[in-house]
Amino acid sequence: MSDTAPSTKTYPPSPEMAANAHVDAAAYEAMYEASIADPESFWRKEAGRIDWMKPFTQVKDINYALGQVSINWFADGTLNVSENCVDRHLATRGDQTAIIWEPDSPDEDALHISYSDLHVAVSKMANVLKDLGVGKGDRVIIYMPMIPEAAYAMLACTRIGAIHSIVFAGFSPDALAARVNGCDAKLVITADQAPRGGKATPLKSNADQALLHCSDKVKCLVVKRTGGQTTWIEGRDYDYNALAADASADCPPEEMNAEDPLFILYTSGSTGQPKGVVHTTGGYIVYAAMTHQITFDYHDGDIFWCTADVGWVTGHSYIVYGPLANGATTLMFEGVPTYPDASRFWQVCEKHKVNQFYTAPTAIRALMGQGNEYVETCDLSDLRILGTVGEPINPEAWNWYNQVVGKGRCPIVDTWWQTETGGHLMTPLPGAHAMKPGSAMKPFFGIRPVILEPTTGEVVEGNDVEGVLCIADSWPGQMRTVWGDHERFEKTYFSDYKGYYFTGDGCKRDADGDYWITGRVDDVINVSGHRMGTAEVESALVAHARVAEAAVVGYPHDIKGQGIYCYVTLMSGEEPTEELRKELRNWVRTEIGPIASPDLIQWAPGLPKTRSGKIMRRILRKIAEDDFGALGDTSTLADPSVVEDLIENRMNKG
Ligand code: WTA
Repeated sequence: MSDTAPSTKTYPPSPEMAANAHVDAAAYEAMYEASIADPESFWRKEAGRIDWMKPFTQVKDINYALGQVSINWFADGTLNVSENCVDRHLATRGDQTAIIWEPDSPDEDALHISYSDLHVAVSKMANVLKDLGVGKGDRVIIYMPMIPEAAYAMLACTRIGAIHSIVFAGFSPDALAARVNGCDAKLVITADQAPRGGKATPLKSNADQALLHCSDKVKCLVVKRTGGQTTWIEGRDYDYNALAADASADCPPEEMNAEDPLFILYTSGSTGQPKGVVHTTGGYIVYAAMTHQITFDYHDGDIFWCTADVGWVTGHSYIVYGPLANGATTLMFEGVPTYPDASRFWQVCEKHKVNQFYTAPTAIRALMGQGNEYVETCDLSDLRILGTVGEPINPEAWNWYNQVVGKGRCPIVDTWWQTETGGHLMTPLPGAHAMKPGSAMKPFFGIRPVILEPTTGEVVEGNDVEGVLCIADSWPGQMRTVWGDHERFEKTYFSDYKGYYFTGDGCKRDADGDYWITGRVDDVINVSGHRMGTAEVESALVAHARVAEAAVVGYPHDIKGQGIYCYVTLMSGEEPTEELRKELRNWVRTEIGPIASPDLIQWAPGLPKTRSGKIMRRILRKIAEDDFGALGDTSTLADPSVVEDLIENRMNKG
């Protein structure tokens, strides 16, 4: 039994919200039941949101059996995603704004890009890609600032059937090179510089460094953002602005099979290097469009703002694909929440009359700490729905978001999902559910959450229970494979608990039957809403010549949710100095990127290991969490005195 309180204070939807929402409480119950009782009919109908070139006859064909895992949705249908996100809106809303672009600096003008503008820009970029030799099935890396050309690039790839893989602009040249090589990309699309928070990241020169480690066949298409000087390699580098100016605006969309890959997105797991999550065409776009409309209760004419970066899955599904498939107006923001000051988000909401606002708990916590006046000086009366994603939200942040930002009248959708799931799997719906601060509440349509006892794998029935979270059956937005490594896909998600998709998250079902995500149960940590494998940071640390061994765990951090805590054993004879600590921190930043910067580095003369040499991470986690009372059984340690030393020299959280 868990310690889950039956329920905290609940926040039911207002009668107006319930009356006007796409889905109210009764509709949720009926639709959910229908989606579980007869998924084939349910999804056959929902797939009608999308225009098909050739209609599908088969809805789903799923096998979760180890050794034979295969996931197919709408498999004999054909379609094109860019056609669905752009062309089909031209007749009815060609002049409507598709993308509002808000630059890093409020002194620069915002852009309003209509669906007709988008059609021209995407078609031109698609022709540029073709001229550079990119075709159906080829991989293209996108390493870009948050500028409209990033969305054009994504849509241009889908238009010609190329598979994009976006690398977040905060990743280092090494991380970029690993991804270019990992998917054997033909082209890297980048920009000269990426302005963020008043500083410019030299993207092109990062790409130059990365490409030194890649095949010399890889080309580089460079978008002009700041005009900042870049080096240029004739025959490898191409000027997007010059090529697009001359390109034809006519590029018929390629007919794609529903199960053709749409994109690859690298994400961290508990072991090894990041894996390339593969999403395919038909199921993904149906699921992204549906969740965008229902979860955010999006209505025609609403201004939707998701503050994520297109480098993460949230940006894929809820800045670009979901909103544009629905003919929405989506806001794309280049900057950060605190530049020029902590009112930036709220000023953008006021300026563009944002109706739905979707961000991460880490941003909410950071802004909450700056004081209410930054919010209160802005007119937020157009806000109707608030959303959060990426990590569990603590009740204090939830209450601040609800009261100070939403003025107690905007439902908060706490959306739980993953890179692997393509779209929301659990969330309250704004017109249907009485929200509880911190609870992901209810499964989305077609989703069958199952809580399992972690060691036996037995299904835990009933309410007021806790365990690991799995999903029975499939949904259209599910990932299909790991790029180039289907075995890793099966092993990661289908081998621990037979017959289920294993999420890697822990979960409680409270006395009312509502779901609460408790965090990762594996060695994945969540730093400022960015997902990171502790193994990646460890392998970066041990690549340093003076490091013998390293173990990395997460610890609770007030703003970031989790911070990165590293235990480092130096090579014998090396001096543990402050300078070396700084050097290691910088080292990890260069190996992976600034998002992986260690928060705390503790010198560890030894690491707690079992007699068979396995590092006991459970103990390291407890020490980092400052929870010494709960160290548990240490009797299997080869040398228990190691633990005493680690406790004694624990780094202060600061
Ligand atoms: C965590 C981000 C609690 C979870 C879309 C998951 C959450 C991981 C929530 C996926 C939420 C995401 N409440 N935890 N609302 N949303 N998570 O792949 O641990 O970057 O497994 O996808 O973030 O992170 P990813």
